[in-house]
Amino acid sequence: MDSSNFATCTLKRLIRLAPNSVEKFRTKVRGTTWRRTLFRAASAASFVLLAACNAGGGGHAAKVTAEPNSGLSPTAGLGKKIFSDETLSASGRQSCATCHSPDHAHAQPNNLAVQPGGTNLDRPGFRAVPSLRYLDLNPAFSFSDEGTPTGGFNRDGRAQTLAAQAQRPFLAQHEMANANKEEVIKRLRRASYFEEFRNVFGSHILEHPDEAFDRLTFALQQFQVEAPEFHPFNSRYDQFLAGKATLNDAEQRGLAIFNDPEKGNCFACHPSAKGADGTPPLFTDFTFDNLGVPRNSAIAANRDSTYFDLGLCGPDRIDLAAQAELCGAFKVPTLRNVATRKVFFHNGAFTSQRDAVSFYARRDTHPGEWYPAGPGGAPQKFNDLPQQYRDNVNTDEVPYDRLPGMMPALSAADIDDLVRFLETLTDLSTSAQ
Ligand code: HEC
Ligand code: HEC
Repeated sequence: MDSSNFATCTLKRLIRLAPNSVEKFRTKVRGTTWRRTLFRAASAASFVLLAACNAGGGGHAAKVTAEPNSGLSPTAGLGKKIFSDETLSASGRQSCATCHSPDHAHAQPNNLAVQPGGTNLDRPGFRAVPSLRYLDLNPAFSFSDEGTPTGGFNRDGRAQTLAAQAQRPFLAQHEMANANKEEVIKRLRRASYFEEFRNVFGSHILEHPDEAFDRLTFALQQFQVEAPEFHPFNSRYDQFLAGKATLNDAEQRGLAIFNDPEKGNCFACHPSAKGADGTPPLFTDFTFDNLGVPRNSAIAANRDSTYFDLGLCGPDRIDLAAQAELCGAFKVPTLRNVATRKVFFHNGAFTSQRDAVSFYARRDTHPGEWYPAGPGGAPQKFNDLPQQYRDNVNTDEVPYDRLPGMMPALSAADIDDLVRFLETLTDLSTSAQ
């Protein structure tokens, strides 16, 4: 594939991710009114463009056969090998698949808040590992016409494409910890699929480590976009939507609560209905919100009481640091496969799904259940945010529109039903463990 093709494919990818239909919800964030925007991605159109992109591989790609029976293009087939190649890390013991385990819906296999990485696998990370499922329909980051931040990769949306995202784990000193791109390419030269890499991208590519590194990350992107294992759409809920399965009573009650604007109101950010064109729901609208999740002392960086992970406004992301109203907002994750997760929210503050759901209902009515007591004995609400950003937390939308002494929006039985419903969102190819 030559570089013009590479650029065209990347561009097509950005275009294909443009949302095709929009519904609006209002949410108020610290004086500014963002309009919550629900995107229904055009998946049918996207696959047409994708096919065009792969066909455009031309040249070198045509000389290489795809993985036998995998249905993957040669580029994606390479991406698959790179994804689980531990020799590309400084430790020699970590690959993408180590943290994004295929057996755990491409999320972390353990219940640590953050994963260790680095040369000796002893440098702690900063955020819980998100699932890599269904990200092929995640749009690039932008502000909508109404000013709602939307899309992008990572929990702060800072990477514009999956390929751009894939650069960081190779170089981050708390992850695969290569000193620079040259070092990654040096390791690649020793990989068993090195010859294949040269055949797909051309042998001249290795004279330019920067370009070779771009191709390496592009291959990872194509693997995540093309391989059905990243977006099987075969959960029981998908079968239910297709009229091929039924939900039991508890699951149906859970679904009704999820979609009830006066009860769970979950669908306002985690859309659960098929798009007008029949596209299956993704359970995220790709927007950002500030839930005021409790601080997690299991994250080493949090031992420094002046350190705060503020999502959209830093520290990893720097371009929005001046927009104080965005501080503490993180991307809405998909709830597909949420029942297989071992830790919840950006900082892994919860290890039980029931607690994560319960937090929504009881955060404001029973803050003492979630936050440590302050010097005066009162719970320190929103203690993972500096004082000046605590007003940014969403306290307007159901189910957070309560005060201490009020009834929670959800009863214990409602929470049980919601959890049962969420369990129907597990892909069949991924066993909940
Ligand atoms: C040490 C664990 C670790 C390794 C190794 C790792 N990741 Fe990640 N990955 C994470 C964490 C943690 C995040 C969230 C980072 C953030 O929000 O800043 C993440 C985020 C991502 C995202 C963005 C997901 C989203 O919801 O936007 C993608 C895509 C991704 N990783 C792909 C990869 C690929 C490809 C590799 C291999 C080159 C890789 N990761 C290696 C831990 C890891
Ligand atoms: C106003 C938007 C909004 C609403 C309404 C909402 N969520 Fe969320 N949800 C989010 C955001 C944002 C996150 C990620 C927060 C973070 O990482 O700190 C999230 C994360 C989660 C998680 C953790 C997933 C993970 O991968 O760690 C669960 C579980 C969840 N939501 C369930 C629900 C349920 C159940 C409801 C309804 C009771 C609901 N949400 C309503 C925005 C929302």
